[in-house]
Amino acid sequence: MSTTAQDTWWRGAVVYEVYLRSFADSDGDGVGDLGGLRHRLSYLAELGVDALWITPWYPSPMADGGYDVADYCDIDPRFGTLADADALLAEAHANGLRVITDLVANHTSDQHPWFRAALAAGPGSPERARYFFRDGREGGSAPPNDWISAFGGPAWTRVREPDGSPGQWYLHLFAPEQPDLDWDHPGVREDFDAILRFWFDRGIDGIRVDAAPAMAKVEGLPDAGHGPGAMFESRTWVGNPHWDVDGVHEIFRRWRRIGDSYEGGRLFVTEAVVNGPERLSRYVRPDEMHTSFNFDYLASPWDARSLRTVIDASLAALEPVGAPATWVLSSHDETRHVTRFGRAESAAATMGFDAGVSGADLELGLRRARAAALLTLALPGSAYVYQGEELGLPEVEDLPDDVLQDPTWERSGRTARGRDGCRVPLPWEGDRPPFGFTVAGVDPWLPQPPRWAALTVAAQSADPTSTLSLYRAALHLRRRVPGLRGEDFAWRAMADDVIAFDRGRSFRCVVNLSGEPLDLRGTGRVLLSSQPGGGLLAPDTAVWLDPGAA
Ligand code: GLC
Ligand code: MG
Repeated sequence: MSTTAQDTWWRGAVVYEVYLRSFADSDGDGVGDLGGLRHRLSYLAELGVDALWITPWYPSPMADGGYDVADYCDIDPRFGTLADADALLAEAHANGLRVITDLVANHTSDQHPWFRAALAAGPGSPERARYFFRDGREGGSAPPNDWISAFGGPAWTRVREPDGSPGQWYLHLFAPEQPDLDWDHPGVREDFDAILRFWFDRGIDGIRVDAAPAMAKVEGLPDAGHGPGAMFESRTWVGNPHWDVDGVHEIFRRWRRIGDSYEGGRLFVTEAVVNGPERLSRYVRPDEMHTSFNFDYLASPWDARSLRTVIDASLAALEPVGAPATWVLSSHDETRHVTRFGRAESAAATMGFDAGVSGADLELGLRRARAAALLTLALPGSAYVYQGEELGLPEVEDLPDDVLQDPTWERSGRTARGRDGCRVPLPWEGDRPPFGFTVAGVDPWLPQPPRWAALTVAAQSADPTSTLSLYRAALHLRRRVPGLRGEDFAWRAMADDVIAFDRGRSFRCVVNLSGEPLDLRGTGRVLLSSQPGGGLLAPDTAVWLDPGAA
């Protein structure tokens, strides 16, 4: 396979995560779609991001918001058609935006023809060999091993065989509607080669690899040693048999060869919540994926020492493999960081297991979130912006129980509220729901709080001090300041509770995480500040300076 010259646009790209269901609705069904996204592309181009990552758009029963795929080579009718996807791509490219799609390859939907065929064909059939069907223990009545689901509960569900008898169990590291594929099956590998080519041939610029560490399992499926009530805390696991097993890397090398065979190459970014930066760096070795989300950074509490440690460890682990870091504060899987940073316990847990645990001071959270934005966008490498973070949206913690849809809610026995609170549709304009998200009079698929009237895109566009204006200014400066385009990075020693670093000779970022104002008078010209405030940097404030200019 020939390798063409590789483009490196992704090394410093800002990628905007479009959670499609909640971005913008064009057909009045209360669910975001491709038409809505096309209509709002100029907003994203003006915001100043380089690329979009669009969450799964494939036909899906939506048991997990589209991460349960029933057909990998089509678009769900709720979102549009393949022609809409082609049009979106063309228009995004015309607006200077690259497009990354989400590939969910660890599991399919239980409605995928492969799984339906496996159920129908019965034990021992070649159809079942694409998935993990096993006999239960204790005469069949207990799961084959102790593995757990990321959404709570066991990772196994028992089926009824075609003759109606209670039968084998199948593995699902996520919801029961998401059976895991067996990637040791050659047919699975070949089918996904074709799926990658299907999208690359259409002009997709990259792929976000969902649940990458799940894709290989230790042979024989041995117990993991999970105790009763164990949580899916993959950031602490060592030698786990169903997560971050070394066999995953062979799959990614295979995918990389496919991506590299395209003119300019194609980007792969992995979602890999693993134990520390060294394990993470294995996913981005030169012949594997290009980048990986940095969940250690996302999970860090708002604390200078912790953030410095994560930044250092991330850069140190990636340096030997030559991959750029990514910096991520929020996604459709985490409690929004305005809310997290407003809590005493500001660290993040994944899959919505921390949503609503303790009250948040949202004014404090927003102040920190604005400072965190300047920190994140000043670090070397690529950065991700989750839709709505540019509006300073908080988590919606008061969604009524009966609208909750995330599988975490039911699977945790209604103890964890799950991820719906970060997925509430965006407020675009107007003074009451649906705030231009959908046609007036239509209910969005999750209700928006009326108090979001002050946070709409329209309201914030008109206000130079808004969070949206701060993001726009930062994203535009990021393109203009030469130091921010390179990969130069040097810490500046200041007080313990202050994060400070230079990017080249004419750019410095200073974040004050102490409780005291910090005097920066005479240390340079202010390029951008997360709060108005002259030469005194208030607590929980960040500033971008040109130290060479007075
Ligand atoms: C990833 C997705 C998440 C999904 C899970 C299962 O973590 O980001 O939303 O629930 O994979 O596909
Ligand atoms: Mg719609």
